[in-house]
Amino acid sequence: MYGSDKVSDEADRTAFRRAEKKYKLYYKQDSKFSKKKKQPKQVDLSDVLDFKSALEDYINKGVLPQGIRVTKCGLDDTQVFYLENHPGFYFIPGALGLEEQCKWIKESLANFPQPPNRTNHNAIYGPISNLFDAAKENMVLVREDNQPDSHDPASGSCISNGEFHSWKFVDEDFAKAKGKTWKTVPASVLLRKLRWSTLGLQFDWSKRNYDISLPHNKIPDALCQLVKRLAAIAMPVGEEFSPEAAIVNYFGLGDTLGGHLDDMERDWSKPIVSMSLGCKAIFLLGGKSREEPPQAMFLRSGDVVLMAGEARECFHGVPRVFTDEENAEIGPLESALSHGSDSSFLEYIKTSRININIRQVF
Ligand code: OGA
Ligand code: MN
Repeated sequence: MYGSDKVSDEADRTAFRRAEKKYKLYYKQDSKFSKKKKQPKQVDLSDVLDFKSALEDYINKGVLPQGIRVTKCGLDDTQVFYLENHPGFYFIPGALGLEEQCKWIKESLANFPQPPNRTNHNAIYGPISNLFDAAKENMVLVREDNQPDSHDPASGSCISNGEFHSWKFVDEDFAKAKGKTWKTVPASVLLRKLRWSTLGLQFDWSKRNYDISLPHNKIPDALCQLVKRLAAIAMPVGEEFSPEAAIVNYFGLGDTLGGHLDDMERDWSKPIVSMSLGCKAIFLLGGKSREEPPQAMFLRSGDVVLMAGEARECFHGVPRVFTDEENAEIGPLESALSHGSDSSFLEYIKTSRININIRQVF
């Protein structure tokens, strides 16, 4: 999926690719700014659908944007939007309250990347534990070469080119004392480069398939309960959603998710439930071909998107995340995470977006 960012000139000419380019973060080349902080290029956001203001207009004036409908989600009267020309796509603005957002931000950082869950770092370092705490404590990941005897089962290990490597977090000073004999990577750098983790059934990104032989934990119960409730509106009548796998995406400044389809699940009548946390982003919902011009829309912290049925066959992606103070719209999170012990979470989420998308695989 991430590889799909690299597209040929041919693909460059599709309507989807053009929209991605329109919204992507580019910097001004202006020499005037070259000595100052890089200035992002202005983007025309007038075509971006804003469900937050659509909800306000609907509540206050009873009006809806063209092509948009609204319905109520059974249990708690939450307003759910859907698009006339995209059956199976649902948008629930502010579906998650502030407390719930904080909970899942914390889980996504402190617990979801823990083994046996896999992350993008597995391929290089093997399983690594306690990344978030290690970053908070300024630790560094170190590699001791060719020392299978000193392998600590709590730390990661992996074999590459026939060599045994063992990676573990140690204090910065301890690593410095060891000098150049140890290869080191600061935990803070690894946290910044964390792009995904997988929960429940593990998705194998290299094969783009679920590998049911990989060790895994069940999706946490609280997440299952929440997602079942959110998925209900997009489920076939009389059936309950069964969360079996989740992919957690982490976005920092300039990160994007290229246009793709999620087509590795067996039954497309079941929705993908996608929760947004942290900085505001632009989501593109396209058609069944990349030639169809996509609809752009804002995704804010607490918004939930469901994609079921025909919408499962539609290209989608995230070309832009707004990590600057003015556009990120994370004010409420800043207050909610202002308590001292939460400061490390706040520091991360101030300039990041997290997306948890939950799937029924079978
Ligand atoms: C995905 C996905 C959308 C998002 O991970 O498959 O489409 O909002 N994520 O990040
Ligand atoms: Mn997707």
